[in-house]
Amino acid sequence: MRSEFLSFSPPLIGQLEIDAVVDTLRSGWITTGPKTRRFERDFSEFVCSPSALALNSCTAGLHTALVALGVGPGDEVITTCMTFAASANVIEHVGARPVFVDVEPDTLNIDPDGVERAITRRTRAIMPVHFAGHPVDLDAIHAIAEQRKLAVVEDAAHAVGAKYRDRWIGAGNNPTAFSFYATKNMTTGEGGMLTGDEELVSRARTISLHGMSREAWRRYQQGGAWQYDVVLPGFKYNMTDIQAALGICQLSRLHAMQCRRREIADAYGQAFRQCDELETPATRPDVLHAWHLYVIRLRRGTLRIGRAQFIDRLTERKIGTSVHFIPIHLHPYYRNKYGYSADSFPVAYDSYDRMLSLPLNPTMTDQDVADVIESVCDIVRDFRAMEVAA
Ligand SMILES: Cc1ncc(COP(=O)(O)O)c(C=O)c1O
Repeated sequence: MRSEFLSFSPPLIGQLEIDAVVDTLRSGWITTGPKTRRFERDFSEFVCSPSALALNSCTAGLHTALVALGVGPGDEVITTCMTFAASANVIEHVGARPVFVDVEPDTLNIDPDGVERAITRRTRAIMPVHFAGHPVDLDAIHAIAEQRKLAVVEDAAHAVGAKYRDRWIGAGNNPTAFSFYATKNMTTGEGGMLTGDEELVSRARTISLHGMSREAWRRYQQGGAWQYDVVLPGFKYNMTDIQAALGICQLSRLHAMQCRRREIADAYGQAFRQCDELETPATRPDVLHAWHLYVIRLRRGTLRIGRAQFIDRLTERKIGTSVHFIPIHLHPYYRNKYGYSADSFPVAYDSYDRMLSLPLNPTMTDQDVADVIESVCDIVRDFRAMEVAA
């Protein structure tokens, strides 16, 4: 038994990040400024995006992208039901209707056939989510979008460091939003990045800061002009240089952090192969998985306990877990507003009922990984349904 609780997803913050933040605090400029611009350049170079805009969250990136595309009342945006509230909420924020689609059983990513069936004359955009860091079948989504003249806004909250057919997620012209929330593969505490073509990102930049024609940093610089115009009623979504200082450091060690995530996912995969009771995450060919989450599903009828008790047993053994996600259509706001029932999206509902996320992050030691494996395997052995029958 472990002596200390294994947190589900603590950030990996070292002296590098601490020094960079202190340096920023001492620099005389702490909000959006030179470090934010450098972080945007570094990130854009890393994912090979045409352009990048640093923001205070991924939610802000998704919202800004929808506004920049002109999505609004009367429009529909198709997204997955297996996602966090942010993906659907931003669609509501612009006054459009989120239209949910079920997921594919292996990756739990949005089902392209379902997308096709959900299109109406009101559909303006598709918002796929790279669930757990496994890239969505982007070729299929873009083929539908091109044929039906729809925008594609990627929710890449989980997908920094992921590739689809040898291209980094975020390398395309369509808007793609990343999250640097505290639990994500790289973090700025809170934060996000929107990538996409230059014109769209430039529009998003204005929308993200009160619709002002010139940012504070440029106005307060020596020689900067005090004058600015408000060209639209924008939001207040900018990233600070304190966050960007963290982001620059985290990006510089992303490769090493991703390697560790991959090692842990491989170790889990090998160990759990011996447990027929567990369905482990799928990885399709032609993708580089970002391994943001490691989601296992309990196979029905093979264990004497359900997901909730499985989590309780892991908690007793001091292993932190989570559930990703409670499908959006089960939340009261969406269920009541649009009249969904649990089985409206059977694949997502069936998976939700038997899924849990295990700790997977680069702060984990080999002993932590071994403890998770041993605990999971012990619980499976202790509660195997076959032993009841025997
Ligand atoms: C799929 C998905 N989309 C969007 C978000 C929102 O990210 P942020 O907290 O940076 O706004 C999250 C956050 O966990 C998420 O999991």
